Amino acid sequence: MLVILKRDAGQVSRQAAQLVASAIRKKPSLVLGLATGGTMVGVYQHLVRLHQEGSLDFSQIVTFNLDEYLGLPATHPQSFHHFMQEHFFAHVNVSARNIHIPDGTIRGNYDQYCASYEEAIRAAGGIDIQLLGIGRNGHIGFNEPTSSIASRTRLKVLSRETLDDNSKPFAPSEQSPRCAITMGIGSILDARKILLIATGASKAAAVAKSIEGPITSAVSASALQLHPDVTFIVDDPASSQLTQREYYLRVLEMTALLTPDRLS
Ligand code: GLP
Repeated sequence: MLVILKRDAGQVSRQAAQLVASAIRKKPSLVLGLATGGTMVGVYQHLVRLHQEGSLDFSQIVTFNLDEYLGLPATHPQSFHHFMQEHFFAHVNVSARNIHIPDGTIRGNYDQYCASYEEAIRAAGGIDIQLLGIGRNGHIGFNEPTSSIASRTRLKVLSRETLDDNSKPFAPSEQSPRCAITMGIGSILDARKILLIATGASKAAAVAKSIEGPITSAVSASALQLHPDVTFIVDDPASSQLTQREYYLRVLEMTALLTPDRLS
């Protein structure tokens, strides 16, 4: 694991966008796994800016989003479809036919739908880079604590902590979704490269457990320790509970010297 320590959220999103941008420049038909959440907004802002400046072309990329709330149509303001349009797709030139986001309106044969999402990822050649945020409880996508490390795309019941964190933007009269469709931890681990970003003190415990704790289904992101190419980009508040900060800083120095490609 490469742990990139940055001072603040602005630097974290700039670094993440830079890594994604250089991967797209190297491989214009990159298959990109996308995430939602407040932490991602800054990353999308930087990517949009690079596109508007004319230095980044998304016309050939293929995207797969991690998850969507069950029951929300794409037009619902709290749906992840809506989030992606608002923060990214409406401002860049990703081809509509190359965008994949789990459909929150499906009913009935969930297993078949989820298998078809996995099949679409396979047919695209697999995910080259998967962007991830992290929940306070260590979830990635909507893989709540106790999710199997081998799990694939499926229906998932949201935990109490996630319901509390995510219900705020819903109208008081509206019942916020209780379930989601999410790529599994096994699906995420199939990506060739994984980039997890975390900012703010509320993520500090989850970040420390994921990087330095035991691999356990109680903290879904700890499963990333099993992957050969994971980069965490964290700001000062989110890295405050890491015990090996000095070591990560030395690794960063040596990485800049020996394998600078991993940082830009
Ligand atoms: C949701 C998403 C996750 C995301 C998490 C953190 O639960 N399913 O993919 O990582 O929110 O969101 P935020 O960045 O707003 O803290």
